[in-house]
Amino acid sequence: MRLGIISALHEEQQGLMEAMQGATTLSHGMRDYTLGLLWNIDAVCVLSRIGKVAAAMTATLLVEKFGVTHIVFTGVAGSGDKLVKVGDIVVAEALLQHDMDARPLFPRFEVPLTGLQRFASDLPLSEQLAGAADDFLRSDARLVLDPLEIQAFGLQQPRVHRGLIASGDQFIGSAAHVNQLKAAIPDLLAVEMEGAAVAQVCFELGVPYAVMRTVSDNANEEAAVDFMRFVQSVASRYAFGTIRNLCWRLAS
Ligand code: ADE
Repeated sequence: MRLGIISALHEEQQGLMEAMQGATTLSHGMRDYTLGLLWNIDAVCVLSRIGKVAAAMTATLLVEKFGVTHIVFTGVAGSGDKLVKVGDIVVAEALLQHDMDARPLFPRFEVPLTGLQRFASDLPLSEQLAGAADDFLRSDARLVLDPLEIQAFGLQQPRVHRGLIASGDQFIGSAAHVNQLKAAIPDLLAVEMEGAAVAQVCFELGVPYAVMRTVSDNANEEAAVDFMRFVQSVASRYAFGTIRNLCWRLAS
C-alpha cells in the first residue's frame, strides 16, 4: 500500500511532515508532495489548497504521478445537522457536490454522465479511519488539547459521526444557506469544499478513499469567527492523532 494524505490547510499537515521518516519533497503543478514513512506506512503528504478543482488535481496527481493506492483526506467542515457539534468528527460514508446543478438536463446534484449524485467512500478504509478517530477522541484528545481551548470551543463530549458530507466551492456562512441545503439533502452531516471532488476522482480511477472532517463551525453567520484559531489549536491535533492511529492500524 502507498497512502496519499491530502489536507486543505498547512496547519493540518505540519505535524505529519515532522513525523515522517526519510522524507523527500517533490514539487509539481504548484504543490509539494512529501514522500516517506509515517509509522511504517509508505505515505505521500500534500496540501490540496481549497476548493474542488484544487482537490481534484491533487488527487489525480497523487494516483497518476506518485503511485498512491489509497487516499485519505483530513480537514475541517461546517456542521450540517443539529446533532453534529463543533469538535465532533465526521467520517464520510458518501460525498455529494452540493453546487452541481445541471437541471433540466440532469437531476439536481447528479454529476452529468455518471448517473450518480453520491460517491460512496471505501468501506474498509473508512471503518479504519472512523476507528482511528474514535480512539483519538477517547484517549488522546484530552492529553493533546489545551484545557482552555476545550473550554472555549465547548469540546466536552466529542463524537465520531458517519454519513453524508457535501462539498461545494462556497464557504457556507449563513443559517439560511445551510438550512436550504439541509432541506434539499435531509441526511446531510457536514459541508466543506473538497471531499466530493476527491471522491469523484477516486471513483473514476478506481482508488479506495476515505474522508475525515473535524467540525469547526455551524456554517452560520459565526462560521468564520475563530476559524483559524480552531484549525491551529484543535483541528491540527485531531488530524495528526487520527492519522497516526490510522497508520498504526494499517501497519498491524
Ligand atoms: N469548512 C469549514 N467550515 C466550512 C463552512 N462553513 N463551509 C464550507 N467549508 C467549510
